[in-house]
Amino acid sequence: MIMKKKLLEIRDRALSELDSLKNLDALEKFRIDYLGKKGHITSLMKNLGNIAREERPVFGKLANDLKDEITGILEKVIAEFKGKEEGGDKIDITLPGKRPLRGYLHPVNQVNSEICRILVRMGYTIVKGPNVELDYYNFEALNFPKDHPARDMQDTFYVSQNVVLRTHTSPMQIRVMEKQRPPVSIIAPGKVYRSDSDVSHTPMFHQVEGLLVDKGVTFGDLKGTLTSFVHQMFGSDIKLRFRPSFFPFTEPSAEVDIQCVICRGKGCRTCSFSGWQEILGSGMVDPAVYGFVDYDPEIYSGFAFGLGIERITMLKYGIDDIQLLFRNDMRFLKQF
Ligand code: DAH
Repeated sequence: MIMKKKLLEIRDRALSELDSLKNLDALEKFRIDYLGKKGHITSLMKNLGNIAREERPVFGKLANDLKDEITGILEKVIAEFKGKEEGGDKIDITLPGKRPLRGYLHPVNQVNSEICRILVRMGYTIVKGPNVELDYYNFEALNFPKDHPARDMQDTFYVSQNVVLRTHTSPMQIRVMEKQRPPVSIIAPGKVYRSDSDVSHTPMFHQVEGLLVDKGVTFGDLKGTLTSFVHQMFGSDIKLRFRPSFFPFTEPSAEVDIQCVICRGKGCRTCSFSGWQEILGSGMVDPAVYGFVDYDPEIYSGFAFGLGIERITMLKYGIDDIQLLFRNDMRFLKQF
């Protein structure tokens, strides 16, 4: 039945054309092409007289069904297009808008800025240096001789035999003193690396180093500076203590503890029931270090200190897992 084949051809063509139409004008042209007075379907129906009498009712019904089918699809497509063009059904313009998240500083960067602001106000200048550091600056010139047991204190990432990812910001002491004669008063914030990972360690973390060298600098200056720093950082009612310690590049050395900010010294889990928490290392620059930078220890003296920014952030906000700071979970971060 040739006519039936023709109808099916028209149907295929119509459906694939409908798929490719992109606007209301194209749809109107399509309507005229297929359904109009001189359209493909109408013309075919006009040929009814040319086919065998007994086939006419069957063909007539097929043609009418096709006309209805295409009219139906066309109406739906037109309605969709109108919806889109008018911003109709698809978008409910009465709904409240979605507020984009506002960016702000990560808590570690906030605390870093606060530490630097306090120290800059005291007269320190910010310096920056390489994260990939020579063994010489990271250890040697800081009085860690090769094979000195103190090197075991650090789980170092070695890049090559003489190159490491710096394990602390202390190498900046040497880099600055090498270039500059006293008086020197610098702080060096930045990233440091150690092969270590648990609730209180991450392989990368941040430190701020401080160094002051001049004529007549005493341990009293060190105590005064760090006491004032702690009071500005944690509140002027917080108690601190200087506990004897050892670092190869300072002599004498002291670690500074503050009264536990969680229990205020009573003793709790966070401070292992001691009432105190360690916040930094410090000491008077060891005369051996001056030997590496050609300063005369008979004329100059000074102090240095180094603190961990994540550690201070955790103490300040009572965070018990350092990994939280690096997981980038907005539910955690947006609290700061
Ligand atoms: N660099 C030491 C560390 O990472 C911290 C430190 C201790 C820095 C004493 C100092 C200092 O400047 O005097 O463990």
